[in-house]
Amino acid sequence: MQSWIPLVPDSASTFSWQVDALYFYLSGVTLFFALLISSVLIFFVIRYRRRTPWEIPRPVAGSHKLEIVWTIIPFLIAMTMFGWGARVYFTQYKTPADAIEVYVVGKQWMWKLQHATGQREINQLHVPVGRKVKLIMTSEDVIHDFFVPAFRTKADVVPGKYTTLWFEATKPGTYHLFCAEYCGMNHSGMIGSVIVMEPREFDNWLSGNTSSTTPAVAGQQLFQTLGCASCHGANGEGGRGPALAGAFGKETELQDGGKATVDERYVRDSIINPQLKLVKGFGPIMPTFQGQISEDQLVQLVAFIKSLSTGGQTQTSAPAPSATPQK
Ligand code: CUA
Repeated sequence: MQSWIPLVPDSASTFSWQVDALYFYLSGVTLFFALLISSVLIFFVIRYRRRTPWEIPRPVAGSHKLEIVWTIIPFLIAMTMFGWGARVYFTQYKTPADAIEVYVVGKQWMWKLQHATGQREINQLHVPVGRKVKLIMTSEDVIHDFFVPAFRTKADVVPGKYTTLWFEATKPGTYHLFCAEYCGMNHSGMIGSVIVMEPREFDNWLSGNTSSTTPAVAGQQLFQTLGCASCHGANGEGGRGPALAGAFGKETELQDGGKATVDERYVRDSIINPQLKLVKGFGPIMPTFQGQISEDQLVQLVAFIKSLSTGGQTQTSAPAPSATPQK
C-alpha cells in the first residue's frame, strides 16, 4: 500500500504525520528560497550587466538596515525549524510508561526479538495496533540501527548499552524493518518486517506461542545458577549485596556521593562492571560477569530484576497481557 504521495513511505504510526509535516515545511522553505534567490540572481545578471567595455560601476556603500533584515529573518526561520524539530524529537524519545516491552538484540546480521511474555521472533515483530510499544535494544557485536520507515522512527543499537525506541502503530499491515547503520558485509540483508495486527488477532498470536519461558523467569533461573542469590538474597531482598526488590525505577545513593536511577542500563552496567557505580554502604566485592554471559542472558537478568519491582512477570506461563486497550 502506498501513500497518496509516492515519494514517502507508508504512514502507520502516531508520529509519522508529525515527521512528514516537519519534512514538508523544511522542503517548502528550501524550495521557496531556492526559487527566490535564483530568480533575483537571474534578474540582477540581466539588469546590471556591463553594457559597454569601458563602463565603470558606481561604488556601493554598505547598508546596516539591509544586513539586519537579512540576518533576523533567516534567524527567525531557523528557530521555527529548531523549535518544531525539538518538539517532534522529544515526543519520539520520551518513552511512555504504559508501553508493552520488547527486547531486541541485534547481531551480524539478524534481529532477535523477545516479548516480555516470552515469545521469541527472528527478523519479525508482531505488535497490536493502537498500543504503545517500547523496544529495549542492544547489540552483540557492532553498531546496528533499528529503522521502520512507516513509523518514521529509528534508533542506534549499540554494543555495551541499552537504547530504547517506542511507537504506536495506527494501521494494521506489514511494514519494512531495516538496519540503518552499515554493519559489515550483509548489512543490506539485515532486514525484516513489523506485523501490525488487530488487538484480538495479536492476542491469538501471543497465546499460540506461549511455549517459551518469559525473560523474567529465565532471569530468575540465571540469578540462582550464577550465585547472585548468595549476596542479593533468593528473592532479591538483599544481604551482603544491595536489595534488588523494589529498587528498579528508583534513585539510589552511590558510594561516591552521587546518585543513579536504577534503570535497564544501570542494572546491565552493574552486572558487567560492578565497581563502577557502587551502592552506598556496600564494598567492592561483586565479581564482574563480563564475557561470561550473553546479551540474551543479560536481558533476562534485567527483566528478572525489573519484575522484582513491578511484579507479576515471574510466573512460568505468564498470562499474555491483553492487547485490547483498557479504559
Ligand atoms: Cu546491522 Cu547494518
